[in-house]
Amino acid sequence: MALTTWEELEQTCLNCQKCALADTRTNVVFGVGPRDAEVMCIGEGPGENEDKQGEPFVGRSGQLLDKMLEYAGLSRKKNIYIANMVKCRPPQNRDPAPDEIAACMGWLRNQTAILRPAIIVCIGRIAAVSLIQKDFKVTKQHGQFIEKNGTLMTGTFHPAALLRNPVNKPAAMEDLLGVAKKAQELGLPL
Ligand code: URA
Repeated sequence: MALTTWEELEQTCLNCQKCALADTRTNVVFGVGPRDAEVMCIGEGPGENEDKQGEPFVGRSGQLLDKMLEYAGLSRKKNIYIANMVKCRPPQNRDPAPDEIAACMGWLRNQTAILRPAIIVCIGRIAAVSLIQKDFKVTKQHGQFIEKNGTLMTGTFHPAALLRNPVNKPAAMEDLLGVAKKAQELGLPL
């Protein structure tokens, strides 16, 4: 059954043993940001730094993401909530396995049920194929908005991919500016 308060949800999630990632994690990375944000960003899963600090996107790719969000007027301190598909670090930073994503999905669903964001931004392929469309192609469909159950969903490049391949940075920046513009069109308080 879904939990109805952030405090209860976080406390329960921090004790999660639903998959084998629990055995190797240092910290559960629950999520960060205002708990009434209208925009929610969803990444893939914690890396080494996130596992150590218990906060999403705090390593190199997180710094790039923060910089780009900031340019679009978005920030975890002010107006966006950030979480991941899986709350515990997959060893060696491998992709989370489908069974790990499935085991963790209830936490994410519960987070979105409490937050009720107007816009969800999938950061990278793993989140986009899990949440938007199973054959989502980031290179082709990034920045497009699709409505699902009253929530606007969009996907963009993962900052780790942008660090490897900076040629897509301007397109990713356009995507985030598009999110801010959409929020403005909808009259959302940012
Ligand atoms: N990559 C992600 O997808 N999420 C994080 O929290 C860190 C890196």
